[in-house]
Amino acid sequence: MIVLKTMTGLKLGSLRRMATAVVVAAGIVFTSGLSANAAEEAREYESHDWSFYGLFGTYDRASLQRGYRVYKDVCASCHSLRLISFRNLVEIGFTEDEAKGIASEFTVEDGPDAEGDMFERTARLSDRIPSPYRNDNEARSINNGALPPDLSLIVKARHGGPNYIFALLNGYSEEAPEDFHLTDGMTYNPYFAGAEIAMPEPLFEDAVEYGDGTTASVEQMAEDVTHFLAWASEPTLDRRHQLGFQVMIFLILLTGLFWIVKRRTWKDMH
Ligand code: HEC
Repeated sequence: MIVLKTMTGLKLGSLRRMATAVVVAAGIVFTSGLSANAAEEAREYESHDWSFYGLFGTYDRASLQRGYRVYKDVCASCHSLRLISFRNLVEIGFTEDEAKGIASEFTVEDGPDAEGDMFERTARLSDRIPSPYRNDNEARSINNGALPPDLSLIVKARHGGPNYIFALLNGYSEEAPEDFHLTDGMTYNPYFAGAEIAMPEPLFEDAVEYGDGTTASVEQMAEDVTHFLAWASEPTLDRRHQLGFQVMIFLILLTGLFWIVKRRTWKDMH
């Protein structure tokens, strides 16, 4: 009797274990199917040959100014640049009058006035490049629940920096694969984590008119605006690289001088 009980006990036990294994396996298959989109690996991007890369690299002023144009005409309708003031634009080659003109294209909130009310006025050189929205809630409600981030530090804030931003902006040309479940209101972009993004395709052929006659292809605009955003996130790079260069020259000259002094000092010693 006891033997029989243990035998059925054993059988029941192994049956239960088998059932658990089947349920777990089914669970894994099911959830992996469900999260197919979420698990979609963001695609690798290539390294671009940026002029500001390398020990003594510098920004390309013409590209920075074109990049500003792209930012203003396309991105500024959704993204602020709060760490850059209009005065800073002089550093990328605009004259002070041009920077004033640029500022006058924006309105900012100021106040409170004598009655305690906030009011809007035309931007001045000392103002930061403002957000087009009154607050984050408005930004989210207009953009399908997603917040367009401030772009001042975005190049530093993303792994892959300018190469990632450049690939992301160029990454809208592909159709989503057949089996990809695109969420309503989202756009397919293989370089964004999850491969779908709440930012609609921003760049189209000739979306801006460049003052210097450069053809405004999507790739050119993506390159210029990325260059501009790289500057925004590190405006002192040029100065730093220049200083590094001067320090190296100084050290080389100093080494030469020390060598001469040493030869002179020891010349009579045999
Ligand atoms: C119509 C509004 C809109 C425009 C125009 C727009 N963006 Fe966006 N952008 C968004 C939104 C919304 C997000 C947030 C996306 C998300 O989290 O899914 C975003 C996110 C981004 C990101 C962050 C991506 C990441 O890795 O998190 C970058 C970089 C960016 N935008 C750059 C740009 C640039 C450069 C332009 C101009 C060429 C531009 N955007 C134009 C709405 C916009």
